[in-house]
Amino acid sequence: MMAVITIPREAVPYMLLQRLEVQELGAKIHYSILGKWVYKLYEKTPGAKHLYRIYSMKIEPMFRFKRIIEKYVGVMYREFQQIAPYLPDNANKIIGIGPGVGGLEAYMSRYYSTKGLSPEITLIDKSRIDDIYYGFHEEAAAYNSLDIARSVLIDNGHLGNKIICIEADDLHRFDVYGADLIRPEHRLAQTRQFETLRVLVNNPG
Ligand SMILES: C[S@@+](CC[C@H](N)C(=O)[O-])C[C@H]1O[C@@H](n2cnc3c(N)ncnc32)[C@H](O)[C@@H]1O
Repeated sequence: MMAVITIPREAVPYMLLQRLEVQELGAKIHYSILGKWVYKLYEKTPGAKHLYRIYSMKIEPMFRFKRIIEKYVGVMYREFQQIAPYLPDNANKIIGIGPGVGGLEAYMSRYYSTKGLSPEITLIDKSRIDDIYYGFHEEAAAYNSLDIARSVLIDNGHLGNKIICIEADDLHRFDVYGADLIRPEHRLAQTRQFETLRVLVNNPG
């Protein structure tokens, strides 16, 4: 049976932007045969991003929040199951880059707590909502709240003093020494900011 993590309702508008598959309308259009063309039109139409933002942050969360949470938890659980066989037995320091509201980190926290461990978890993301766009761009769109990500971890039993939140915009240098596990958001892989981190990881000092 699926282990369930707790997600507060305030996280729902962010989850909708972070994981298209938990949406209803956006996902249906995106995954339809016309999705590619509709998306091109969306990128070019003035005001479309603003309207879509109101729809996905206000209207869907109002009517579908329970279903959205269920879907998000399911997505996170499946992703956790995929990485679980590769997790180190011991982890004292975990770094999540672009973790969103932190569902996967909550599963990792739970996994290590069953082994009697309480790793320090660092979350690096941006607490703001950009215009909503998908696909690869030079800069990834940001849509998150690190306060909510922190509360997701705490609601799932992680100790507050073992959570470090870092605004990516303030990040000029970051010491990854001693990290047991770095979990990057793969959609950031082609952005300039990610390149900076990769350089830091490869050439510390
Ligand atoms: C598509 S969402 C995915 C969130 C989460 N990894 C998941 O799988 O549910 C991408 C995340 O990356 C964050 N992000 C965008 N640019 C970033 C940057 N330069 N550094 C760190 N996080 C960033 C966004 O705010 C958002 O939380």
